[in-house]
Amino acid sequence: MRTRVGIIGGGPAGLLLARLLHRAGIDCVVLESRTREYVERRQRAGMLEQGTVDALRAAGAAHRLDTEGLVHHGIELRFERERHHLDFPVLTGGRTVTIYAQTEIVKDLVALQLAAGPPLLFEAEALAVEKPESDTPVVRFLHDGREQTLVCDWVVGCDGSHGIARAAFPAAAGRTYTHDYPYSWLGILAEVPPSCDELIYARHERGFALHSMRSPYVSRLYLQVPNDTSLDDWPDDRIWDELAARFAIDGDWTLNRGPITAKAVTPMRSQVHAPMRHGRLLLAGDAAHIVPPTGAKGLNLAVSDVSVLAHAFTALHATGSTRLLDGYSDLCLERVWQATRFSYDMTRMLHAQPDGDAFDHHLQLARLRRITASRHAAAELAANYTGLPLPT
Ligand code: FAD
Ligand code: DHB
Repeated sequence: MRTRVGIIGGGPAGLLLARLLHRAGIDCVVLESRTREYVERRQRAGMLEQGTVDALRAAGAAHRLDTEGLVHHGIELRFERERHHLDFPVLTGGRTVTIYAQTEIVKDLVALQLAAGPPLLFEAEALAVEKPESDTPVVRFLHDGREQTLVCDWVVGCDGSHGIARAAFPAAAGRTYTHDYPYSWLGILAEVPPSCDELIYARHERGFALHSMRSPYVSRLYLQVPNDTSLDDWPDDRIWDELAARFAIDGDWTLNRGPITAKAVTPMRSQVHAPMRHGRLLLAGDAAHIVPPTGAKGLNLAVSDVSVLAHAFTALHATGSTRLLDGYSDLCLERVWQATRFSYDMTRMLHAQPDGDAFDHHLQLARLRRITASRHAAAELAANYTGLPLPT
């Protein structure tokens, strides 16, 4: 098989890139190792920055998002049994965020791709990228029970944090920066109306808790748990009791409980691989960087990477110039490091440190008090949360 752009991975990054290239008249092929059912059910992100919504609209992929997405005008911070509202439009000059599940974005993009888009092969596992320094890099992959090759002009690794594209970078061609956190998140999906209109980020001595949602009937909640936590230790009643304890305030508020339909534990890590390009192989999304989920940045970064990349490929297609592709890594990494900093700060401010002492505890509270007391500090959080612009 031969194509201009070979895309490894059919997650949000790979699917949106394929959609944008298709609309620009650029030939591409997407290889996805899992089945369609699997990628459409994988529970993950839910909070979209305004720029992400705009990018999906520009790709003609926001029809359902525009009718079913829940526009949010702020978040609530909870600590010391108090609740504090941050009003994003007031703090940012009109910006909002939207709740719309990653599963739904993937379903929308898969449907568009299968209806009219370039080839999207499921159960096609990329094994290796060969000759990334040459003009015709090759992806070796397994499909239909046999090994095949995809000969490309360019290859984009959108294959997530456990993918294979990064392995094609020679050791001397890049560097990986990593930070592991001493806790994980236990996430649940529950068939119960959300107990709030806005997302709640709660700091409690017992640990962090987050209340999010997927629809007016489905809640999504997360609890900080120790690393290596087994789900066997967390029967449903224990999860609800722990969430209720961490969200408790002085005043009238009750956590709605209901049947739990999904449960998973996710470790937390920051990782940046730089540069995001070697020869004719480029990385985008989680393949290049991961952040802890506290700032809700992962999916949003994946979308901004591929928006920049699609623009660069479109310029190459129209003018023959690789100038924008040459600047891709530096441009994206500037925003990636800002999101990495924000996610780290949010995580450190809101999670109980397992080895933390009274000093850490007071610093966390001082940070939270500053945000709720100073419009300037609140505006800084709101600007990062709703999404920083791409540097120009
Ligand atoms: P992925 O979604 O990981 O997709 C990679 C794809 O590549 C997968 O489909 C995989 O099967 C495929 N693949 C892997 N290896 C191969 C191979 N060898 N050959 C072919 N295909 C391969 N982000 C936010 O912005 N907001 C949030 O609210 C948020 N909440 C989160 C909550 C949780 C609990 C978690 C875990 C993550 C959250 N994120 C959030 C992060 C977000 O889900 C990821 O950043 C996002 O999925 C990245 O998309 P991607 O396409 O780069 O990678
Ligand atoms: C969701 C996840 C997050 O990590 C976050 O900060 C906000 C929302 C979610 O899954 O809805």
